[in-house]
Amino acid sequence: MLEVIEQLIKEVSQFSAESKEQVEQFRVEMLGKKGKITQLFKEFKNVAVEQKKEFGKQLNILKTTTQQQVDEFKTRLDNVENDGTSTDMSLPGNAEYAGSRHPLSIVLNEIVEIFKRLGFTISTGPEIEDDWHVFSALNFPEEHPARDMQDTFFIGNGSDVLLRTHTSSVQVRAMENKKPPIRIIMPGRVYRNEAVSARSHCFFHQVEGLYIDENVSFADLKQTLLYFAKEFYGHNTKIRLRPSYFPFTEPSAEMDVSCSLCSGKGCNVCKYTGWLEVLGCGMVDPNVLELNGIDNKKYTGFAFGMGIERTAMLRYGVKDIRMFFENDLRFLRQFQEI
Ligand code: DAH
Repeated sequence: MLEVIEQLIKEVSQFSAESKEQVEQFRVEMLGKKGKITQLFKEFKNVAVEQKKEFGKQLNILKTTTQQQVDEFKTRLDNVENDGTSTDMSLPGNAEYAGSRHPLSIVLNEIVEIFKRLGFTISTGPEIEDDWHVFSALNFPEEHPARDMQDTFFIGNGSDVLLRTHTSSVQVRAMENKKPPIRIIMPGRVYRNEAVSARSHCFFHQVEGLYIDENVSFADLKQTLLYFAKEFYGHNTKIRLRPSYFPFTEPSAEMDVSCSLCSGKGCNVCKYTGWLEVLGCGMVDPNVLELNGIDNKKYTGFAFGMGIERTAMLRYGVKDIRMFFENDLRFLRQFQEI
């Protein structure tokens, strides 16, 4: 009998399992109701008195070793499963965050793509500019408030060097370098000396459009903007042009689009007007053409400009402009394209 127990202890210590089922099978085989060890405990009463002590001792060793083996293999196999190193190849994987485009880039790319389809090409200019390109060549009167120190970041005291306050300066650079027809779209960063708040920032982005050719009319401007609005804001979008003033366009207008959130019925985004203000536009002022060496008897043109942050805020319902510049991954990851 003792040999039997010793033999079993050996077997048990060499036991190994690959699955939890094997462990359970082993447990039942040894410790189950009809298991080998249970059986040996039942035979204890038949053991001769002098052998009882040794038999009991060995039997207990066998029982504990078996229990330890069962426990050890159970935890080991549990861990393998939780590690993700289990061999179940059908389980879905954990996707790694691969980075995503910035919401401003998504919106800007979309706008540029729409105008590219109309034959516009991209033009860019410097962010550090001079008075001529930002103001004078765009027909800003000498005393215009936009030239005020409050709005413009000048580089150096009394200097002519400044950070551009709008992308309209690229229009001037384009007219310097190209002959009409000119049909360009000009994205870029602009700077204004303004207090940073939820609604305004000291730098932001704009995209500007310019079309100069023979016989360009206000109807062309309207049709171009209507196409853009339908492509960008949705095919049921309506546009509305309100008279406005910009020094470099005459006549000037501001364009509203019907609010896509409430379909023009009125909601808190459009402040219950049914309309959203999205861009400024107009016919290039003949003075601007002349200042830039373009024959204003032969050529006419239109221009428009819009803010990218404002457009992105409307599209995504972003309430605070500062979010775009904080590089907070919790914000940026929401724009991941899947
Ligand atoms: N430059 C203007 C601004 O920053 C926006 C603008 C308005 C651009 C009308 C244009 C335009 O080209 O025609 O507020």
